[in-house]
Amino acid sequence: MSAKRILVNDGIHPEGRKALEAAGHIVVTEKVEQDHLPAELPNFDAIVVRSATKIRQDLIDQCPNLKLIARGGVGLDNIDVEYAEEKGIAVYNTPAASSHSVAELVFAHALNIARFLHQSNREMPVEGNNNFKGLKKAYSAGIELCGKTIGIVGFGRIGQEVARIALGMGMRVLAVDPMIDKAQITIETPGTTQILEVDIETRDLESVLPEVDILTLHVPSQKTALITSRELARMKQGVIVINASRGGIIDENDLIAALDSGHVAGAGLDVFVGEPEPSQRILQHPKISLSPHIGASTDRAQANIGLELAEKIINHFNGATR
Ligand code: 3PG
Repeated sequence: MSAKRILVNDGIHPEGRKALEAAGHIVVTEKVEQDHLPAELPNFDAIVVRSATKIRQDLIDQCPNLKLIARGGVGLDNIDVEYAEEKGIAVYNTPAASSHSVAELVFAHALNIARFLHQSNREMPVEGNNNFKGLKKAYSAGIELCGKTIGIVGFGRIGQEVARIALGMGMRVLAVDPMIDKAQITIETPGTTQILEVDIETRDLESVLPEVDILTLHVPSQKTALITSRELARMKQGVIVINASRGGIIDENDLIAALDSGHVAGAGLDVFVGEPEPSQRILQHPKISLSPHIGASTDRAQANIGLELAEKIINHFNGATR
């Protein structure tokens, strides 16, 4: 195998880089800004990206030597996959590597909202010293997640991981996914041999909406919002909504209206319309728990992603015919 030149444009875990270099490849990790890619990318055989770098048709057309595009992560909406494949360029992603991390972030947001941590974390530094009792009173109507019903829209790997954690927390799980009839969720208890297996059959969104206390979204990027004022209105007063999938799956204006009216108690958002410049109305809203698209940004997920990508790239070039 000849050494390939690989541009890693949005970073890779050191383990992934090590594996690629150990296989003899030349790995360049200096970021090339999007508008300089047409000049730089033709010097490479492969590019590794996360969601920040966009690989669109016009860029592909300018890189006749490009043989492989690797997406460290799940969503492929930043890559014109079909077009790349038509041109004989292989496209890989890592659909499983970050499921635990994304699912855990869902519960970070859910617990934040359930106990108003997103608000008290903003106010304690300012008022905690002179208005402790006032804040205690303001944030004393929390809820327990145990016993609540969570609706999981999109029951692939991440959705199923959300279900596993929810079951462990004593929640009732309702799942929605037109592509999946049912899934078996396995809960292992580390340090013991006990395993709990729970079968969950999916249902349609319409029937699930009125029953949930928390709705969490785990579907790929959509052209139009899946959750609008119509769907929000069908849910219970006081519902919590979480989106750690893609901005725009929930209509942000409709969400703000539902938060302002009190129909939705709180929202947890890791993804936004217009990233990397989300709207100020969303960022400033007191009922939204915010994070800057960090679902997959844990050491473990990134190590898994880096190693899985390295393996796919190495295997591809070992057996590559193109
Ligand atoms: C994904 O699709 O894998 C996640 O949204 C994470 O994207 P990121 O790697 O760009 O943070």
